[in-house]
Formats: sequence, C-alpha cells, structure tokens
Amino acid sequence: MERIDDSHKDLLRFITCGSVDDGKSSLIGRLLYESKNLFEDQLSTLASDSRRVGTRGAELDFALLLDGLSAEREQGITIDVAYRFFATAHRKFIVADTPGHEQYTRNMVTGASTADLAILLVDARKGLLTQTRRHSYLVSLLGIREVVLAVNKMDLVDYSEQTFTLIEREYRAFAARMGIERITCIPVSAVLGDNIIEASANTPWYSGPSLLGFLESVEVPDLRVDQPFRMPVQWVSRPNADFRGYAGSIAGGSVRAGDRIRVLPSGRESTVARIVVAPTADAPDINTIERAVAGQAITLTLSDEIDISRGDVISAAAEPIGIGKQFEATIIWMHDAPLLRGRSYLLKTACRTATATIAPLKYRIDVNTLEHQPTDQLELNEIGVAEIELDQMIAFEPYADNRELGGFILIDRISQQTVGAGLLHFALRRSDNVHWQAVDIDKQARALQKGQRPRVLWFTGLSGAGKSTIANLVEKRLHALGRHTYLLDGDNVRHGLNKDLGFTEADRVENIRRVAEVARLMVDAGLIVLTAFISPFRSERGMARSLMREGEFLEVFVDTTLAAAEARDVKGLYGKARRGELKNFTGIDSPYEVPEHPEIHIDTSKLSPEQAAEWIVEQLLD
Ligand code: ADX
Repeated sequence: MERIDDSHKDLLRFITCGSVDDGKSSLIGRLLYESKNLFEDQLSTLASDSRRVGTRGAELDFALLLDGLSAEREQGITIDVAYRFFATAHRKFIVADTPGHEQYTRNMVTGASTADLAILLVDARKGLLTQTRRHSYLVSLLGIREVVLAVNKMDLVDYSEQTFTLIEREYRAFAARMGIERITCIPVSAVLGDNIIEASANTPWYSGPSLLGFLESVEVPDLRVDQPFRMPVQWVSRPNADFRGYAGSIAGGSVRAGDRIRVLPSGRESTVARIVVAPTADAPDINTIERAVAGQAITLTLSDEIDISRGDVISAAAEPIGIGKQFEATIIWMHDAPLLRGRSYLLKTACRTATATIAPLKYRIDVNTLEHQPTDQLELNEIGVAEIELDQMIAFEPYADNRELGGFILIDRISQQTVGAGLLHFALRRSDNVHWQAVDIDKQARALQKGQRPRVLWFTGLSGAGKSTIANLVEKRLHALGRHTYLLDGDNVRHGLNKDLGFTEADRVENIRRVAEVARLMVDAGLIVLTAFISPFRSERGMARSLMREGEFLEVFVDTTLAAAEARDVKGLYGKARRGELKNFTGIDSPYEVPEHPEIHIDTSKLSPEQAAEWIVEQLLD
C-alpha cells in the first residue's frame, strides 16, 4: 500500500516517567521554557488541537477510555495526567506528564497508550529502581517502541562517565529482555540544562545527541496507515430517507469510494458509495472526498441497505478484522480490591461493552525479574495474563497491531468504576472449534412436557439463616404438586463438584460461578431449580441472574440478624469463628453484601420456615 500521509511526522507524542524525585518536572519545565512554551493546556483542548495538528486524533480514544470517561468522571474522581503542548521550529510535541507514585499505574497507562516515545528518568545517584523497571515494562507492553533513558542529576555525580556507563549497561540488559530495541541513553542535568538543548562541555566523553535534538529528529512511523481498513461505527446518521451514513474515526488503513467492505461481527458486505467529512475552513462547502486515512473522522455511505449498528466495525472486505468471544489478554489491575479469577466485569473496547468472565488467570508478571508466577488474583498495580470469556462476539485487532482496536478497560459491575486496563493478544480458537450444537429438543419442549415454567429460586443469606431448611420445605411442596425440581445445596455441592474450593473470596466467587452454570443447565432441562448458598457477593448473584432469561431468576433473601444466626449456631461454626479457629467466616471476618432488590424477602423474625415456604410457593406459582 502506498504511503499517503506524513503529516503525523510533524507531531511527536511522548510520555515522561520516573519516580517522584527524579526530576521529571524540572525536565518538562526546561523543555517548555526552551521551546518558548507556545502554550500548554489540559486534555479537553488537546483533543481538538491534535485533530487540527496531526492525523492522530482517533488514537486518543483508548486514552479517553482509560481516562475514565465511562465512570470516574461522573463521580468527580480525576485522573492526574497533564498533557502539555509545545513546539520548536522543527516539530510539535505533546507530552503526557504522569505522577510517579507507586499507586498511579493508571495515569502512566493512560499517558503511554497514545505515546510514540517514552523518556524514562533515572537519578544518576540511585540508578535503576523497581519503579524504572515497572515503567519500562508498561512502556513496552503498551506498544512504545522508542525509549530515551535520561540519566539525570549528572552534576551531582561530577559528570562521571563511569556512573553513566554502568547505568546504561544495566538498563540495556534489562530492556533487551523485554524486547525494547530502540534505546537512546543521554546524560543530563534538567536543572542546569546539560545536554538538554546542546552538547554540554561537562560531558566531553558523550558524543550522542542532546535530548531536544533527539526528540526533534527521531522518526516514529505511524504503523496504522499501512494496515487494512478498519473503522468502528460510532453512530449511524439518517437525516433523510435516502441518506444513511456511518460515522466514525478510521482506526487503521485507508478507504476509497468504490472499495468493497465487510461489516463485523455480522459479516455482511457492500461497497463504499461516498466518503463525507465535516466542512472545514479550507473547504467550507464541498464535503465529499475520494479517500480517507487512519486518524480521520468520516461518514461513509454504502451502495446497499445493510443492517449496521453502533459498535460494528467496517473493514476491508479482502482483509476483514477478526472476531472472537474468548481471548488471551494482559490485564493491568488498578483497583484496591483485587481482581478475582471467576468474577465477571464489564469489558469496554473502542467498539463495544460486553460482560467478561476472568477464567482462568494464567499468571502474574514480576516486573523486576519478568518471571511468571501462578496466581488466582491480581492486586493493585499488578500485571497478569488471563483468559477472558465474553457474552458476545466482538470485532478486534491484537493490541500489538492496533492499540485502539486491541485495548480495553474493565469496569466493576456494581460500582461502575474503572478497575483495570488490558490488551487483547489473540482470540482463542477454542470458541471456533467448539460449536454450539443446535438441538431439536429445546428448553421449551422440555418444559412443556413437564407442564411447568422453568425457574431458579436463588436463596441467599448468612450461614444458619435457614436457607437450606426453607428451600427443602419449598421443594417438598412443589414435588407434592407434581413439579419437577432439583435442590442444589451449598454443603452438598461442596462435597462433590466444588470439593476443591475453600472460603477465600476467590474460591467463593468460583463456587458461585459453577453453581450458576449448573443451575442454568438445569433450567434448560426444564426444571425448577432451588439453590441454597450464602452467595455473599452482589457481583456473583448479578452474574447468576444474567445467565437466565428475564423473569426466570428469583432472588430469595433469607434475612436474619447476625446475632440471631449466631445464637442458634446449629453447626457450632460461629463459636469456632469467634474463637479464631475458623478463618474467613461470613459475617465475622468475611463480608455479606445484602441484596438490594430481591424478588422475595423473608424476614425470619416474623415467619416460621413453614410460613416462609408457603409464601414462596405462592409467589412462584402465581
Ligand atoms: S459461599 O459463600 O461460597 O456461598 P456456601 O453456601 O457454599 O458458601 O457454603 C457455606 C457453608 O459452608 C456454611 O453454611 C457452613 O456450613 C460452611 N462453612 C465452612 N466454613 C465457612 C466459612 N468460613 N464461611 C462460611 N461458611 C462456612
């Protein structure tokens, strides 16, 4: 494919990273000062500036996604990435300044996801720190191929060549293991200006470029331009009956009127009729163009009426974008509460939001040694590799090929907070090879034969609340009425299917995930299923609900006070927990999240188990 747009060479986006005292602010201050600081501004104006300045506006979208537009913004939590704009005679620059505290991985990821180059600062007196390694790892993970190691505060080590060389050697060895190929090491003093703009007389032994000299001349190719055409549809416009346009920013490649396209995930094909762009100062009237390239915001019209909606991706018909439902992905965890294997989150890509279940978590990466360690959870700032399963097909590109179409964020289903970011590696072929077998006898046929409507009665409540007792009575009544039922009870299932699981948060999540899947199969078999598990977390109860059809899932909250359950202590477990002989006991040292909108609420202080059972059966058969 011919190269068509070089204007991005005018603009270099970079990120600066380092620990708190490495001199990052002095360095940025110095660059801004020396370049006469045309202007500086925050993210909001940056978005429009960059669209004017270069062609890379679309790439901002992953950063915007990460920047928490989805969630935190509404809650007033701001993310601390300052974007500054400056220019010299040779080039324009956008620098993302991200705070260096350990807990601010999120900012670093946000800044790095759009950058072409990273400047890593180290203090010459301290050398490489864990932080430097973590940042390097993130930088390479997020697809930055050009790294400058600025060894700062050279004045404080008497401009020692030996100190510089040792740090350089150590860093190159570390970076090589991560696959960072292009590294430039520069000895500087941000405060005094050595090697920032010009070669410093204090380092006669250094013959490389000055920092700004390097930034002005380094070439970073925009890989997206040479890719096949991809455009996620942001909206469908239909101002009148004979115009239907699909608007979006081109995420890869280029498009021409007359090109054959394919829409994913549906797989429908058509031909581009017109490419329309918003009027500009240069071309106020004419808004049909022949050709558009990566980064441009356009509207397409097609020669056929086909069904396309927001979130679909229009791509080159000969080289269509991939689709998948199960993926391997890297996850960068950004939340205080850990990511748990088996838990489901909302996963948002440039195209769609889907429900994602993390199963299994393959390993965590030690950023110092790059070792893979087996784990079933990720703590704040940890990076791991997992398999994830979505509830729907999505169109995607591996992150390594296209940052915009391969990046995603994870959102907590309950709090709606952004809790992680991730990069798609590849779709697991498993989903291609394991087809959904179409069967002729379906749920409806099975239910009809049994003369009932399949349902789940999902009992939840503290240990000793009476879930099993009431569920047992309900089942007896239904059985007597000729209904076909099955009772899944916590203690029993933990003797078989789930005997490998204990009571940590991760194990409880997995316990409920399996039970919910089994309940779904049984509902599909046409049964009325009763489940009696503490199921202490809202998130997993919500997940179980989402597996069933509307109206099939009835949450039954068996509500008792902790004091009452503890006073009865039928199994003697509360006593053990209080004496410290039993860890992670629900209500004592492990949480129970009360249902907010249960279909049926049983107050055990008012109803006997028999009355409760009667009431539930009435509700069910109503
Ligand atoms: S859940 O939290 O994963 O839903 P589940 O309902 O399967 O729990 O199992 C709870 C039963 O296991 C309790 O009724 C109790 O008999 C027993 N048990 C043993 N240890 C614990 C514990 N640490 N916390 C709660 N229940 C426990």
